[in-house]
Amino acid sequence: MKILVTGGAGYIGSHTSVELLNKGYEIIVVDNLSNSKVEVLDRIRELTNRDFKFYRINLLNRGELDRVFKENKIDGVIHFAGLKAVGESVEKPLEYYHNNITGTLVLCDLMKEYGVKRLVFSSSATVYGNPERVPISEDFPLNTTNPYGSTKLMIERILEDLYISDREWGISLLRYFNPIGAHQSGRIGEDPNGIPNNLMPFITQVALGKLKRLSIFGNDYNTHDGTGVRDYIHVVDLAQGHLKALDKILEKPTLDIYNLGTGEGYSVLDMVVNFEKATGKKVDYTIVDRRPGDIDICYADPSKAERELGWKARRDIQDMCRDAWRWQINNPNGYE
Ligand code: NAD
Ligand code: UD1
Repeated sequence: MKILVTGGAGYIGSHTSVELLNKGYEIIVVDNLSNSKVEVLDRIRELTNRDFKFYRINLLNRGELDRVFKENKIDGVIHFAGLKAVGESVEKPLEYYHNNITGTLVLCDLMKEYGVKRLVFSSSATVYGNPERVPISEDFPLNTTNPYGSTKLMIERILEDLYISDREWGISLLRYFNPIGAHQSGRIGEDPNGIPNNLMPFITQVALGKLKRLSIFGNDYNTHDGTGVRDYIHVVDLAQGHLKALDKILEKPTLDIYNLGTGEGYSVLDMVVNFEKATGKKVDYTIVDRRPGDIDICYADPSKAERELGWKARRDIQDMCRDAWRWQINNPNGYE
């Protein structure tokens, strides 16, 4: 079985590629390396002892992507490629809409042309906006607050319409909560450009001494300790969720939507404490103003994925902190 992995050099795509290869799938990776490094591909090969084809291609380039479909008999696609920084999406909305939406349209058009009708898509809990209550289940109202989130919601709608137009498609929309951690080997992990936007890579860089202290964005949220609460999920659990989703759509046509989270919420302060406990490293912090657009509390009801896919996150918060730290100390400058 041959699976095309778009964005396979990225953080979640690389971990999912490892799981696919370990399960015996053949993969073809397409990535333009706009937010990743070519080195990750050899790490994937090293971890799995398997080889695969890589195309350095921008999804917006239809001609080049056509070549990938022409040269390979593809059975299904896992589509990670996209731009993902919320703040940047507010500054560069056209770039985000063009890259994420046009990229997906080009991909789907070629899939249709070549009769490849199996697609797993990376959506995000961001499509729930500021939810009225928690835990969040898949039937909650959808609403976005920034261009990045809007691209995810629009792509979900496009894929739903595609399924309505042709019930031979099998499409799985996976709404990720907050992926953190790394492969337990410490060989692949998250490698953000510049100063990290997200909490966990910021914490690991403070612990390493690359950054002075963590700024906690607000302690007056309506949560148990005033700091923001999120549903952090180990990236390997998340990757394994993709294989379950893929199995289901390869079996028969359907359109599915699943939350991939643990169902547990941790505050920023909980994360600092857990990280210190898991690693023995101290994380200095200071409380600063809220970050615009942040919400109080967000965690999943992941029971639908357990019921229908037989998938459940297995790794706990200590595993996530330990694995994130192992990746960081073994690769202080990421893949460089
Ligand atoms: P990432 O940036 O590490 O990986 C995305 C990859 O896609 C990168 O390697 C990048 O070079 C590539 N890419 C981007 N645009 C491309 C294009 N036009 N053509 C070819 N390649 C392109 O991000 P990630 O964290 O691995 O996220 C993967 C997917 O999951 C994204 O779609 C993201 O929006 C979504 N997602 C991520 C998170 C998260 O917290 N990491 C949460 C929810 C959803
Ligand atoms: C961010 C994105 C969201 C995306 C999600 C998963 C924003 C506004 N939202 O969510 O669209 O789906 O990542 O990748 O960027 N925090 C600090 N200090 C820091 C960094 C974060 O206190 O230096 C706090 C935040 O206020 C939040 C929590 O830590 O309460 C998690 O933040 P982050 O890792 O950026 O994820 P989200 O904001 O949940």
